[in-house]
Amino acid sequence: MPRYFCENCGFTDLLDKNLYFCPNCGDPLTIIYNDGELEANFSGLGVWRYSSVLPVDPDKKVSLNEGNTPLYKSLRIGNEVKELYIKNEGMNPTGSFKDRGMTVAITRAVERKFKSVICASTGNTAASLAIYASRAGIKGYVVVPDGAVALGKMAQARAAGAHIIKVRGNFDLALEMVKNFARGSNDAYLVNSVNPFRIEGQKTVAYEIIEEIGEPDWITIPVGNAGNITALWKGLNELKRLGKIKNLPKLLGVQAAGASPIVKAFNSNSETIEPVTSPSTIATAIKIGNPASWRRALKSVRESGGAMIGVSDDLIVKAQYLLSSKEGIFVEPASAASIAGFLNAARSNLIRKDDVVVSIVTGNGLKDPDSVNRFESFETTVESEESLLYSVIAQ
Ligand SMILES: Cc1ncc(COP(=O)(O)O)c(C=O)c1O
Ligand SMILES: [Zn+2]
Repeated sequence: MPRYFCENCGFTDLLDKNLYFCPNCGDPLTIIYNDGELEANFSGLGVWRYSSVLPVDPDKKVSLNEGNTPLYKSLRIGNEVKELYIKNEGMNPTGSFKDRGMTVAITRAVERKFKSVICASTGNTAASLAIYASRAGIKGYVVVPDGAVALGKMAQARAAGAHIIKVRGNFDLALEMVKNFARGSNDAYLVNSVNPFRIEGQKTVAYEIIEEIGEPDWITIPVGNAGNITALWKGLNELKRLGKIKNLPKLLGVQAAGASPIVKAFNSNSETIEPVTSPSTIATAIKIGNPASWRRALKSVRESGGAMIGVSDDLIVKAQYLLSSKEGIFVEPASAASIAGFLNAARSNLIRKDDVVVSIVTGNGLKDPDSVNRFESFETTVESEESLLYSVIAQ
């Protein structure tokens, strides 16, 4: 039987309870499988193609057809390496990678007969929770930092009828509040990425990438609360166990420089992080100073032989504009961090000329329409005369 497992202290327990954190050391739990319990019996498309490696009943799935996102070969911005692919997770049903984890976590919530689900969020988890809760016919509660969530994400949560709880503080405070709530109450199922079922769904991005292009040398991914990089590494290791890959790719975890406690721990070879008390970045989705899954992220990156790097807001905005104007892929700033990290690493020769790279971009650009105000723009207001139009276009 699949079991809860603590990667930090080795605690293990059956899945017949609602657990998120290790009762011994407090770290978020993982789900592990015995030999023979993971089967590469894949059919269909998207997250549920991989139900033979998921710990919930696919016949009861709460799904909006998540996963099966497009993987594009870069035409113009990846010239410094052999091949750059961009995995566009912004094409999921609510416009972010969170849906891969949410479909599994909400299915688990329904299996466990919860009538309510809750999360803390920088926006995308809230949007995903709200939409999947409405699909499941249960109540959604989202706890968000007041005034710090992008417009599109708030619109999604509102439209889906979730109860929005605004906190005067940052994401880290919101997460602390819902963690404390979940420790003391079983009235709502906590579906942040500290929920091991979220990680199970999100690991399917690794399965898709490997089925699509085989073994890349590097995968770059933005890091906030560090659930997604944990899930990616878990998926890759399962694929190795299943004999689907020989060599594991190196992971490049990318944080915004103003919210980069894991980068600092990586660079100083430290075994712990020092939380950033006032994280700051325009990439609000990864504006997180005390990431819950930092230990698993550090371990993943180190085991892979990869690296954690920090990128400036300037480079994030440049990467976002490059991606939309040169490749036709419009993403939100946190996702562009993945590309900014790639550009830095290729320039410094950490990623080499003959490498095949996949950059995971995590959220759709329409989530944060205000962010394009920072782009160079080409706009002209013309009078009604046709001749003026000729003059503009000839410029
Ligand atoms: C668009 C986007 N990218 C990246 C992340 C970071 O993912 P994680 O918190 O799992 O590290 C988030 C988290 O909110 C996000 O919304
Ligand atoms: Zn533990």
